[in-house]
Amino acid sequence: MDFETLKAIEQDNLMQTYGRFDLALDHGDGCILYDLEGKPYLDLTSGIGVNALGHNYEPLVKAVSDQAGKMMQASNLFYTEPMIHAAAKLNQLAGTRRVFYANSGAEANEGMIKIARKYSWDKYQDPERLNILTLRNSFHGRTIATLEATGQDHFHANFFPFTNGFDYVEVGDLEDLSEKLCSGKYAGIMMELVQGESGVRPLDPAFVSKAAELCEANDVLLMIDEVQTGVGRTGAFFCYQNYGLHPDLVSCAKGLGGGVPIGAVLAGEKTQDVLKAGDHGTTFGGNPLAASAANVVLDTIGQPEFLDDVAQKGQYLMEAIKALDSDHVKDVRGMGLMIGIEVGPDAVLDDLAKLREKGVLALKAGKGTIRLLPPLTLSYEQMDQAVAAMKEVFA
Ligand SMILES: Cc1ncc(COP(=O)(O)O)c(C=O)c1O
Repeated sequence: MDFETLKAIEQDNLMQTYGRFDLALDHGDGCILYDLEGKPYLDLTSGIGVNALGHNYEPLVKAVSDQAGKMMQASNLFYTEPMIHAAAKLNQLAGTRRVFYANSGAEANEGMIKIARKYSWDKYQDPERLNILTLRNSFHGRTIATLEATGQDHFHANFFPFTNGFDYVEVGDLEDLSEKLCSGKYAGIMMELVQGESGVRPLDPAFVSKAAELCEANDVLLMIDEVQTGVGRTGAFFCYQNYGLHPDLVSCAKGLGGGVPIGAVLAGEKTQDVLKAGDHGTTFGGNPLAASAANVVLDTIGQPEFLDDVAQKGQYLMEAIKALDSDHVKDVRGMGLMIGIEVGPDAVLDDLAKLREKGVLALKAGKGTIRLLPPLTLSYEQMDQAVAAMKEVFA
């Protein structure tokens, strides 16, 4: 079907919730995506940080196809091998104790919030001590609770009333952080270590260490949202490993299934036994199809050489972009293969369109930042190709 016809059907039939790019994708191979006419594009988006192993990655396709022919769904009323093996690998890679499977990032965060509140209630039975602190400019999802957890007012418009029990602190405001975490009102603090959606902003390690220290001292749970930063994206399996943290709770999703929807909450020592039978659940969580994909992802990305390679490539790409030394670019920041190029709100959409014309797909973050979340398998040659396109666009 031609693009214009497809677009017309989309406009008639889908809720217009997304500002889609004017491009219909058909298939992919490695880090290349093809449109309906077969035109190739270098993919620096990976489905918003999902296709961590690129497209059509043979072992992943085989695992999912084999599992689809065997058993796709059994429910959590039964033991199934793929999710149990994947949980053991996740705990090993994360240094955590137990896993709860969800189906998306927002759901994984909902799980973390429930565990944090129940931990506090079980231990203190204090109705004043159930709040969750998050950071300004954070993004934690689109469900009613995770929207409220998201520290950006514009996401809150139109959807009142929210659930109570969330409060925010400005990144870098140590005084407010300290006052709040010592107040006896919080069950946990949830944060992304690189704020992705709001502009690819790595948190200052001093701020993060202080938060971890205050959490420890006040028995407030340290909850790290690794939905975007996790599964190798920043050059460590989880970004908190770059910060030397031992969180009480971790959420992940996106890259975990390499393209198949899956999310997970990982619990550390303190929180591993908080949820008991019947406290939480989801029909699809840990289904064999998604878990078979996660096993391939964990076996591949969990290798130290793979992670070192991501870290090196991230450094190479970031330095190459900085070396363009373009006046058009106000800042380049990020970690591993999660990179933000700040160009300003007036330029970002135009730049993305120009990059697409040159066969390069990238994302927007915040108001004026180009966000790169390529497959972690991106080659050096492809990075050079991307930088050459940027050089022309930023000239
Ligand atoms: C840090 C973070 N948390 C949570 C989410 C929500 O994930 P999902 O869209 O899978 O619900 C996202 C999505 O972009 C995210 O970046």
